[in-house]
Amino acid sequence: MKMWGGCFRQPVDAEFQRWQSSFPFDRRLLSYELAASVAHARALRNADILSSEELIAILQGLEQIGAKAASSSIFTEDEEAEDVHHFVQKQLASLIGEVAYKLHSGRSRNEQIATDLRLYIRARIDQLQIDLTEWLEVLLERAEQAEKAVLPAYTHLQRAEPVLVAHYLLAYVEMFLRDSGRLADCRKRLNLCPLGSGAVAGATIALDRRAMAADLGFCGPTANSIDATSDRDFVLEFVNALCLIGLHLSRWAEEMLLFSSEEFGFVQLPEAFSTGSSAMPQKKNPDLLELTRGKAARVIADANTLMIVTKGLPLAYNKDLQETQEPLFDAAITISGLLPLVNAWMKAAQFNYGRMRQAAEAGFMNAWAAATYLVQRGVPSALAHEQIGRAVQLCLDKNCGLEGLSLEELRSLNPVFDTDFYACLRLESVLAIHDVAGGTAPSRVRQAISDATHRLEAIREEIHAHA
Ligand code: ARG
Repeated sequence: MKMWGGCFRQPVDAEFQRWQSSFPFDRRLLSYELAASVAHARALRNADILSSEELIAILQGLEQIGAKAASSSIFTEDEEAEDVHHFVQKQLASLIGEVAYKLHSGRSRNEQIATDLRLYIRARIDQLQIDLTEWLEVLLERAEQAEKAVLPAYTHLQRAEPVLVAHYLLAYVEMFLRDSGRLADCRKRLNLCPLGSGAVAGATIALDRRAMAADLGFCGPTANSIDATSDRDFVLEFVNALCLIGLHLSRWAEEMLLFSSEEFGFVQLPEAFSTGSSAMPQKKNPDLLELTRGKAARVIADANTLMIVTKGLPLAYNKDLQETQEPLFDAAITISGLLPLVNAWMKAAQFNYGRMRQAAEAGFMNAWAAATYLVQRGVPSALAHEQIGRAVQLCLDKNCGLEGLSLEELRSLNPVFDTDFYACLRLESVLAIHDVAGGTAPSRVRQAISDATHRLEAIREEIHAHA
């Protein structure tokens, strides 16, 4: 039996019917649809619409549908089902007979889909938080293993200053900690239950909305039925949070790509996550990284689609909203698929600390530290900058580093130069002068690793509380 059609004199066009069906993709929501239906059925019993026997029959039927879906992949191949809500009604009727049709009392698919989507996203967030903590753990582990290793930090993709490898990796830790925070925020805001909102004006039966919300683990019911049935902000928030994860992963991938090129030689590609060329026998291609960089595009496109679909939509439910489902699923699946893979890549990749150090020692990356030497001896910073600039010029002519200049040459630029200048040029001294919170001085980096480890622990506790 269809869910509507009593007032129709003509049959619906078969092709249109197939085309408008969302079941090919919203069957993904089946377990949430079943859970929400259980909560609704219990509320119907409390409102005396169902007898205890009817409630039991419905609950058993819903459970059976769940079990069948879990054990058979063809169970959800159903061309007649218009959507996941219709599918459940059809299956329930075939299992328990006419009493199945009582389940839809007082409710609308508009509130059901809004509820299912919230439950789906909440579950995805909980899994993503686990994946993100594991990814953060790998980054932190690698930061710890790096100990005193250094590499150049770049600005404008030109060598700028040497930093600890750990400090560099902690930059990514910050990005992904923010991503985790964004997902947690999104979860907080979406954790309200639309059940009882009806089609637009509220349920037509006095259902206990608090009880339904509690049954489904929501903090409480949504406040306004018009908003609850038309709101997809939580989908947009979630997918935008995924965009940033994708974006951060793509930046990481791009750097690993550069670093693994012969020209940099900082990172060795793990063969288990690389491919070969069918033409050039010598090639080892970093496909995992390239695809990671590429996949960010589809998530960004998904977020874009969602904004375009919802922009300018009048209240309340419009069928356009069905078009929010596939971009949501695509974005969620894309990011969920990526995280375990980048994690494994990072565990397997080898860092070539020797090459990194070589690069960190070349290219006048101690020039700012050299200028600071002058500033600390009272030279105005703009003049110090100018004088070290001229010292660099001299070195370029002589084809040496700043340490290759004699004291006389230095004193021709500024008489305050003394023999202790040479010590401040050493890589370790350059690192050490960045002795501020968040800077690359080794003690600061050790502190930062420990702080990040505690923040990660707090996320784990929150995950635990939701489990
Ligand atoms: N498949 C629909 C969607 O995803 C479910 C809600 C249908 N509501 C309606 N009034 N036709 O939005």
